[in-house]
Amino acid sequence: MRTQVGIVGAGPAGLMLSHLLHLAGISSIIVENRSRAYCEARVRAGLMEHWVAQLLIDTGVGARLQREAMVHDGITIAFNGEARYIDFHKLIGKQVFIYDQKEVVTDLIARRLADGGQILFEVDETSVLHDFIGGCDGFHGICRPSFPDRALRGYDRVYPFGWLGILSESPPPDKELIYCFHERGFALFSMRGPDLSRLYLQCAADEDVDQWPDARIWDELETRLGGVRPLARGKILQKGITPMRSYVTEPMQAGRLFLAGDAAHIVPPTGAKGMNLAMADVRVLSRAIEAHYKSGRNELLENYSRTCLNRVWKGQRFSWWMTQMLHRHSDEMDFDAKRQIAEIDYVTGSQAAMTSLAENYAGLPME
Ligand code: PHB
Repeated sequence: MRTQVGIVGAGPAGLMLSHLLHLAGISSIIVENRSRAYCEARVRAGLMEHWVAQLLIDTGVGARLQREAMVHDGITIAFNGEARYIDFHKLIGKQVFIYDQKEVVTDLIARRLADGGQILFEVDETSVLHDFIGGCDGFHGICRPSFPDRALRGYDRVYPFGWLGILSESPPPDKELIYCFHERGFALFSMRGPDLSRLYLQCAADEDVDQWPDARIWDELETRLGGVRPLARGKILQKGITPMRSYVTEPMQAGRLFLAGDAAHIVPPTGAKGMNLAMADVRVLSRAIEAHYKSGRNELLENYSRTCLNRVWKGQRFSWWMTQMLHRHSDEMDFDAKRQIAEIDYVTGSQAAMTSLAENYAGLPME
């Protein structure tokens, strides 16, 4: 098989890359080792920055997003039994969208296939001839390890805690997200619909899900919510542990192989940046490949890694910052805990600090 760009991985990065290239008249083939049903069912974080939602709409894959996504003006941070709201829309004129990554994947697969795109599912090895490769196969994929030895350096931070996440048939405690700092640990109250909650608890990194019967999860969520809202309980449909890690590989390119999304970098979910950074990478890459074919100019390709890493490190910084501010680092009311309470009080009270959080959370400018 022959194509201009071979893409490894049918997640949001690979699919969006293929879609953007198609709109620029450039052919690609996606190779994915999982099944279509698996890709379309994988529940992942679901928060989309303003410009990503706009990109989906502008490139003709936003119809269902516009009907079904929940549009949020801001977030609430709760601590000491108090709820403080940060209004992004009022502060910076931007909103964010709740739309699960699996819905983005479902919409993009449908659109690629309708446009005659080729996606080879459940394929491990293939010989696709190509000019470039988009390595969009995630943190555990084969593309990053295939970089030549010593060509790249990894920057890593592993956190000593994880998130226990549930999907529940119950209305969320608020129509927008609540991030909670509590002496027993962090909790997040998100949602996938008016009667479908997505809730998370800080837990040990090696937590055993079997130690968490439903009643224990609900009691702990209620405690950490600290009485700022009533919490409705419901049937738990899914339970799982999310590890927390920050990782960046530099550079993101070797020869004709370009890494994008989780294959190049991962963030802890507290800043909700994972899918957004992946979308930024492929926006940069598709433009660079387009410049190569349309005008024979290679500067954008040569600058790919530098351009992406500039945004990636800002996303890393923000995700680390939210994570350290909102999680418990020991069981004691120690220096860190006191400092964190002061930080949250400041961040939710100062116009300047709220604006800084809003700019980063809703998405730094992307031209
Ligand atoms: C989610 O809805 O899954 C979600 C939202 C915001 C986060 C993390 C996860 O920071």
